[in-house]
Amino acid sequence: MSLASVARSEEKLLLPTYDRHKILFQRGRGVYLWDSRGRRYLDFLSGIGVNALGHGHPAIQATLQRQAARLIHVSNLFFHEYQAELAKRLTKISGLQRAFFCNSGTEAWEGALKLARSYARAQNQNGHAPKWRLIALDNSFHGRTFGSLTTTGQAKYRDPFAPLLPGVSFVGFNDTEELKRQFDGSVCAICMETIQGEGGIRPVSREFLQLARQLSQSNGALLILDEIQCGLARTGKSFAYQHYGVQPDIVTVAKPLAAGLPLGAILTTNQVATGMHPGMHGTTFGGGPLACAVAVEFLKVLEKLQPHIHAISSYFREQLEGLKSKHSSVREVRGLGLMVGMELDSAEVAKSVVSQLLRRGILINRTNDNVLRFLPPYIIQQRHVDQVVRELDVALTTATPRSKTNSKVAVSPRSRN
Ligand SMILES: Cc1ncc(COP(=O)(O)O)c(C=O)c1O
Repeated sequence: MSLASVARSEEKLLLPTYDRHKILFQRGRGVYLWDSRGRRYLDFLSGIGVNALGHGHPAIQATLQRQAARLIHVSNLFFHEYQAELAKRLTKISGLQRAFFCNSGTEAWEGALKLARSYARAQNQNGHAPKWRLIALDNSFHGRTFGSLTTTGQAKYRDPFAPLLPGVSFVGFNDTEELKRQFDGSVCAICMETIQGEGGIRPVSREFLQLARQLSQSNGALLILDEIQCGLARTGKSFAYQHYGVQPDIVTVAKPLAAGLPLGAILTTNQVATGMHPGMHGTTFGGGPLACAVAVEFLKVLEKLQPHIHAISSYFREQLEGLKSKHSSVREVRGLGLMVGMELDSAEVAKSVVSQLLRRGILINRTNDNVLRFLPPYIIQQRHVDQVVRELDVALTTATPRSKTNSKVAVSPRSRN
């Protein structure tokens, strides 16, 4: 099928929720994707953080094929071999003790919110009204279902679906004074992304996260972290909160967990798990044997990859900082590990850079209008970074009026590879 015929059919047949780039991808291998015209693209977005091992990773392919031939689905009414094995690995790397498996990020987040409310009820033995308020952050993104939208602090996602659910208050991003003002004994949980993704790659400050931990502890509330985009080694540690010395009560993960198959998870403590009992929460597809077997394999590969993620992300960051000193349109480079944002001085420049890179065969995207987002697969090498930095340099020069380019400082990507 050609791109034109697929696009025509989709236009007639699908809900108009996406404004897709005019590219029809047909296969992938390693850090590359190929389109229907045989053109190769360097993938520095990895399906927005999903294809963390790139495309067609041999260990993932082998597990997929083996498990697909054995058992794809079994109802959660029965046991299979992989949920406990996967939970064991995830709890070990997170410092938590319990897991629940589902199908997506938003479903994990919904479950985490339900768990916070049910735990508050279970704790409330003295006849008072249970704690029920949730505190969320401005500019956040937690998914597209109703509970997730209710805790998402961006009008563009929320407004078309109002009214949303009751009980959520918002606090300014990293605003410690407002957090102190909002916190009281009615709060059952404070929830946030450790690094805001859709909000423009913004790591929460150490001071804010530590205060959230302290206030939640002293008020008998839970700290819930959304690591759906930033978790599972994207930042060079298993979880982004491990850079902060803070341990949450609940964490959600999804995107890369099953290397491209739909799988999400809620991780929590033994104590908070007492808020659930059989029948209170569930899912038909979540945690099936195929997705869980692949996720176990993903975590095995991840263990060996972490030193590489650390080294390559430092190199990438260094190169992007070099571009910042050369181009005045670059306001800031931020993020952690391989979750990187480059804020430009206008949405137009950012748009132009993304489309120039696409024309040159490099995939990135734009988030929060003027932030270039890089979520490359963890297997990138220096030559891939060098290619992206070279093309970015050209694109920023083209997209920025000549007078704005600081031509004194040259960027020379090291080619250690
Ligand atoms: C931080 C964060 N939370 C939740 C979600 C929702 O995940 P999903 O699209 O799998 O429902 C996303 C998706 O981009 C995300 O980045």
